[in-house]
Amino acid sequence: MSLRYFGRLQAPSSPASVCVVPGDDAAGEVVRPTLEVLRSLAPDIQFVEAMSGREVVEHYGEAFPQETREAIDNATCTLFGASGGPSRPVLWYLRWGKETYVNIRPVRWFPGYHSPMVRPERIDYVIVRDNLEGMYPPREGDITELTALSSSNSWWQAPPVEKRGAYALRVCTDEQMHRVAVAACELALHRQVSGYPGRVTLGAKYSILPRTDGRFRSIVAETVRNYPSLSYEEYLIDDLARRMIATPETLDVVVLSNEHGDILADVAAGSIGGLGLCPSGCYGERYAYFEPVHGSAPDLVGKGIINPTAMLLSGAMLLAYLGYEQEAQRLEQAIEQTYREGRSLTVDQGGEARTGEFVEVVWGKLAEC
Ligand code: NAD
Ligand code: IPM
Ligand code: MN
Repeated sequence: MSLRYFGRLQAPSSPASVCVVPGDDAAGEVVRPTLEVLRSLAPDIQFVEAMSGREVVEHYGEAFPQETREAIDNATCTLFGASGGPSRPVLWYLRWGKETYVNIRPVRWFPGYHSPMVRPERIDYVIVRDNLEGMYPPREGDITELTALSSSNSWWQAPPVEKRGAYALRVCTDEQMHRVAVAACELALHRQVSGYPGRVTLGAKYSILPRTDGRFRSIVAETVRNYPSLSYEEYLIDDLARRMIATPETLDVVVLSNEHGDILADVAAGSIGGLGLCPSGCYGERYAYFEPVHGSAPDLVGKGIINPTAMLLSGAMLLAYLGYEQEAQRLEQAIEQTYREGRSLTVDQGGEARTGEFVEVVWGKLAEC
């Protein structure tokens, strides 16, 4: 699988510089070894570490200091660990501040991954997730405000009377839905060159939400029609969730809204063997950042057992984005061989290796390939 997802979204400048923000809780325990691997694979990239979260509040008075924002701005792209809450403003800035509109989450089983599935070798697809709209960022309010909405006219949609409660809004602009659809098509086209079927599958609740998900459905279907070599399938989101487990081999590029992509990416991670295995890249026209699908794993802090695979693979996506295609492939192959051999796996993969021991084996494999 080539990690170069979009020719069009390749980083513009060279030589590249990368801002590295470890984030919260156990995220730093996977970011730091990944940074060392990336430094050695691409010595001409300039890596700049920037801090956020609890540990910087004392020094700067805030969790997302101006220095960190500037370091992000000055870099070609960012490698981000995860937010456990305190670093959330960094995540917000990387998404909405840098307009990284599409989130690419590859889901591929490597031999050796501890999957709970029967025949996990069938799993090799990519989730293309809206990264900016839908239900995130939160726009919530009191239910009394709903009476002002024209969509509250029918009796079954009328706001609850004399009850207390809240609502959340879902926002979908044509521009965003269209560019996410284009990203999915470009990715499917790119994968088709390597033998994938060139199939874009939409999952949405268009039966119940005609004006948002129905519109998304029309926009994606229409966009795919502009790519004659691609085929298009659509399923209601609940049925698609079942298909991810029952018939994952039918999936190639799966296009989803922000919240559906968030949830189903974790389901997909579970199907290949866990959250420690799924990388992601968030791309915009002028910026990109890379982070694992998983969060800050607060339950693992300081234990030294967190699986660095998702972070390392996110690092490989970063290298590919910066044009270090061969280095990205070497890193992916080294990880693949480590799992194929299966001797030094972390606890989540049924092994006993500590994070550092796993990375040591990857280093050894890198020396060989
Ligand atoms: P989580 O992904 O951090 O952890 C869920 C479970 O998976 C935990 O049991 C954890 O130990 C395990 N896990 C996660 N990554 C692992 C790894 N690399 N190796 C082995 N096991 C791993 O999700 P959560 O516990 O629901 O959330 C914790 C915090 O992370 C929350 O504050 C949440 O908002 C945040 N979060 C942030 C991001 C992000 O920054 N993009 C993504 C998801 C969750
Ligand atoms: C993810 C996370 C985030 C999201 C949270 C932390 C806002 O779950 O990256 O998957 O939902 O996008
Ligand atoms: Mn998530």
